[in-house]
Amino acid sequence: MAEAQPNILFTREAIRRRVDELAGQISRDYAGKELLVVGILNGAFVFMADLIRGLNVPCRVDFVRLASYGCGSVSSGEVRITKDLETSLAGREVLIVEDIVDTGLTLSRLVGVLRERRPASLKVCAFLDKQERRRVPFTADYVGFSIPDRFVVGYGLDYDEQYRFLPDVCVLDQVR
Ligand code: XMP
Ligand code: MG
Repeated sequence: MAEAQPNILFTREAIRRRVDELAGQISRDYAGKELLVVGILNGAFVFMADLIRGLNVPCRVDFVRLASYGCGSVSSGEVRITKDLETSLAGREVLIVEDIVDTGLTLSRLVGVLRERRPASLKVCAFLDKQERRRVPFTADYVGFSIPDRFVVGYGLDYDEQYRFLPDVCVLDQVR
């Protein structure tokens, strides 16, 4: 059987334009403030690297890594922090950066955990959003693109740790 080829959903040029727009919007919203940008490893690192380079407000960065119980492409709903932040959130303007919101379970739980650390503000910027897959209500403050219920890879997103390096966002149809 031939290996399935990923089909492009968003080209690198379309991604660049949208990420620059998001960075502009975030810069306007946080004018005069300093941001702490919190990336969720591994998927968000490519998006976050481009996003922060479009900002014109000062920012610090930190990362958190989460393990969700369950496997493959299905989120189980339990979220455990396997690598915590090294920065105190107290009094800071915090922006969580995630690759994709799917069921909403990961972000709704992470936001709950990080809110207890008393940031001055806490918002979420997701590169992609699959709204029709929500199992809990969750709305990101900034979204790059809304997408239908297809499994996507590239620009940091993986299938079994493959494809993260692709510069375009592609659909892998055999996954779902
Ligand atoms: P929630 O908790 O919102 O989890 O269901 C979001 C996480 O699910 C993964 N995910 C994907 N990863 N392509 C991917 O590479 C996809 O289409 C996809 N949909 C969900 C991803 O790890 C995200 O952080
Ligand atoms: Mg992820």
